[in-house]
Amino acid sequence: MKTGGTPRLKILVSNQKGGVGKSSLSANLAAYFAIERQMNTLLIDLDRQGTSSLWIRNAAPYERLKFDHASHLIQGANRLGIFNARCHIRDAANLHEVVITDVTWSPAVGYELLEIFDLWIIPTSLSELELLSTIALLGDLKPALERPRSPRLLITPNKIHPFQRKFDSMAAQRFPVPFLLTPPVLASKDFESLYQRDYIVSAGKDDVKQRFLTFCEAVWKASQISVFEAHTMRARSDWNAGAASAPPSALPEISRVPEMIKAGTPDETPL
Ligand SMILES: Nc1ncnc2c1ncn2[C@@H]1O[C@H](COP(=O)(O)OP(=O)(O)OP(=O)(O)O)[C@@H](O)[C@H]1O
Ligand SMILES: [Mg+2]
Repeated sequence: MKTGGTPRLKILVSNQKGGVGKSSLSANLAAYFAIERQMNTLLIDLDRQGTSSLWIRNAAPYERLKFDHASHLIQGANRLGIFNARCHIRDAANLHEVVITDVTWSPAVGYELLEIFDLWIIPTSLSELELLSTIALLGDLKPALERPRSPRLLITPNKIHPFQRKFDSMAAQRFPVPFLLTPPVLASKDFESLYQRDYIVSAGKDDVKQRFLTFCEAVWKASQISVFEAHTMRARSDWNAGAASAPPSALPEISRVPEMIKAGTPDETPL
């Protein structure tokens, strides 16, 4: 939320890998802001297949939830396209409290687009292939992500099974840039059955909804952390099995991170 006056929140949901849950998280997070937080929310879908915009078109309408399928803006994959997309997202943010942009990352999307966002959510499974691909992507984008106006990076483990209680593979040391680890979004049949039809917050089973809300609240909380705090934070990987220990006193700045991730510790509840 970099603008003065009324705070606007601009969230990018993107990863270069397909099928990691970009559109599912975009549409359901948009529904969370519109329904649970009663915020005027726009989902901008920059992907050609229009998964998340179709989702909002098909589901029951909510006054505060709108979509915009705008993939044509970046079709040319040239600088003019990126400039247009930037202007489009900025203009949209003047009219909505929350703007969520769903796009498959490609080099054509461009560094320039990154800096207009407050948060960048990267969904990923715990598969080594997906993690390595994300680490490589972040390595390529390191110079852009180290700029003062870069978005706050949130990595979201998605499609997580209850038996996956160890998250050592997400250790911060493996990643070239600092990030916040959100509570995981668990693998759930609800995500599949409600796909492009309805939202977890309005039609999900109670336990699935509660868990998803934990993720959403962490995103909200991350958006409220001051720029100063965010720049001094470091991600932690010890959030499995409720083992998030107090941060070492030499690094007091990380104290909020375990708090955020502790809330999402998966348990043995079958899905
Ligand atoms: N938490 C989850 N639990 C179970 N299934 C999930 C979950 N998240 C996503 N999925 C499933 O994974 C598949 C891909 O999801 P989605 O379309 O959101 O991914 P994507 O990253 O947007 O894909 P694409 O690269 O095609 O745009 C869908 O079948 C969806 O139902
Ligand atoms: Mg998609």
